Amino acid sequence: MSKKIAVVHCSPRADGNSSMLADEFIRGAEEAGNRVVRMDAGRADIHGCKACEHCLSHEGSCVQQDDMQAFYPDLRDADILVFATPMYFYNLPAQMRAFEDRTFCQAGKPFAIKQTALLLCFEDKDASTADAAIGTFRQCASYCKREVIGEVIVNGVYERGAIAGNPGLERAYRLGLGIA
Ligand SMILES: Cc1cc2nc3c(=O)[nH]c(=O)nc-3n(C[C@H](O)[C@H](O)[C@H](O)COP(=O)(O)O)c2cc1C
Repeated sequence: MSKKIAVVHCSPRADGNSSMLADEFIRGAEEAGNRVVRMDAGRADIHGCKACEHCLSHEGSCVQQDDMQAFYPDLRDADILVFATPMYFYNLPAQMRAFEDRTFCQAGKPFAIKQTALLLCFEDKDASTADAAIGTFRQCASYCKREVIGEVIVNGVYERGAIAGNPGLERAYRLGLGIA
């Protein structure tokens, strides 16, 4: 049965390396018959969670009227959540952190998301420098009781478009294609 997949792109660079990973994943996922909703969180106005806990007593609704409001309806009924993101300062960028923090409102009304995946790119030649970023992703997935269905990790790419020809793009495509 086809799935609804939310792909959250977390870089401020519209046509950068993580965007190309997202594009390839989406190409595969759509070819396999899934419905994909792309969320460009990297260029959206998303503030951090205020910890006001309004959502806990108001069926998961968030008081903050920023761009996150446009994403909530699709997040609520998505089956799979995929993050496509660069690494910033050895961790996940503020744009992704803000997005994920604002999903705190699922404590007031659960999201349907059961599975998740990570598409990560960064400059360092030493892939182990991403261990903290990947660990954070896995810990959040575990806390939200989501199965990790894939991690595509691409290192050694800095300039916009440097990922062209990298086997990571094929891996992202295959990950999407494998969802049915
Ligand atoms: C603010 C900032 C912080 C970064 N920090 C790191 C880092 O800690 N380690 C690393 O390997 N690359 C780092 N990079 C490089 C990016 O991860 C790399 O250029 C990536 O390919 C960008 O993806 P994008 O084109 O999708 O934005 C940083 C880039 C920026 C702009």
